[in-house]
Amino acid sequence: MTPGWITEDVAVAAAALRAGGLVAFPTETVYGLGALADDEEAVARIFTAKGRPRAHPVIVHVAAADGLDRYAEQVPDYARRLVERAWPGPLTVVVPRHPGVATAAAGGAATVGVRCPAHPVAHALLTAVGSGVAAPSANRFGRVSPTTAAHVVAELGTRLDPHRDRVLDGGACPVGVESTIVDCCGERPIIVRSGRVTQRDVEEWAGVPTAATGPASAAPGTLAAHYAPSAQVSICDEGEPLLDLVKRESLRGPVGLIAPADVADVPGAERLAAPRDEDEYAQVLYASLRAADDAGMASVVVVPPPPHGVGVAVRDRLTRAEHGSRSATNG
Ligand code: TXA
Ligand code: MG
Repeated sequence: MTPGWITEDVAVAAAALRAGGLVAFPTETVYGLGALADDEEAVARIFTAKGRPRAHPVIVHVAAADGLDRYAEQVPDYARRLVERAWPGPLTVVVPRHPGVATAAAGGAATVGVRCPAHPVAHALLTAVGSGVAAPSANRFGRVSPTTAAHVVAELGTRLDPHRDRVLDGGACPVGVESTIVDCCGERPIIVRSGRVTQRDVEEWAGVPTAATGPASAAPGTLAAHYAPSAQVSICDEGEPLLDLVKRESLRGPVGLIAPADVADVPGAERLAAPRDEDEYAQVLYASLRAADDAGMASVVVVPPPPHGVGVAVRDRLTRAEHGSRSATNG
């Protein structure tokens, strides 16, 4: 590995972006793989590095709320109220795009996803470059999002250019699951992806009720099979006792267990995490799934958190991970 490829120096990372390089950087949710939003060539390299289909749009990250108007137009009043309360924070709004900006990041769409992250390192980087940064999560397409710099290297280390690109190390991400995405193109907000900002937050802050159904979309975060480790994920729901599920999964090989702290250990399963509440569950979820793969586990049995707060998003990701690890096209 080239010395200096991984850096804690925001100025070094900002210089790499300005020179057309890619920079993986921490946000409060997960690590993103960034390029200057209007550098079409650099944005194209993001898609190549991730192995992501070109038509899937990428979120543009801005340093402050006024960055929204650089990329968006005809932003509904409720969306303005929403970002005023939620930013900086783990919320992305999809709004009508200003023509001529962030074309490659938008994947040709007439809309753009914009987010102002609440992470000091992300904020410093965005301020230093003085421009929006297009960034999907810094994982290979379909895989679990990275929540540490080491995870980024494990995902993309061989796919980045050590001379041009950088990994900006800002420690572990405090939220741990991706931002809530709210489509703000219509009369009412539509929650497209759940996250730490809940439906109740969105409705309270926007001052209008959300519409129930999202637009039919093939965006990666909305595919049934996504966020998957190599190990088979099996959710323990009301149907089958935990002990029986572990026994059954043991037939495949070593089994890991992710369950809230009040769930006792189970013979035959190695405990990967025992989070005390849904926030901690979100924080440790992706690292635990990675740990299962690193340990060569065949299966991870999970007892989901209750559907409160970010627990809704954790349950959503677990369901997708279960689908993803079952599907032959995983990856
Ligand atoms: O927390 C996050 O949102 C992280 C950090 C790095 O900011 N980013 C992230 O990006 O999760 P990504 O690309 O992995 O997921 C963003 C999702 C994708 O499903 C993408 O299709 C959708 O947002 N998206 C982005 N722009 C959109 C648009 N204009 N219209 C519809 N969906 C959009
Ligand atoms: Mg992603």
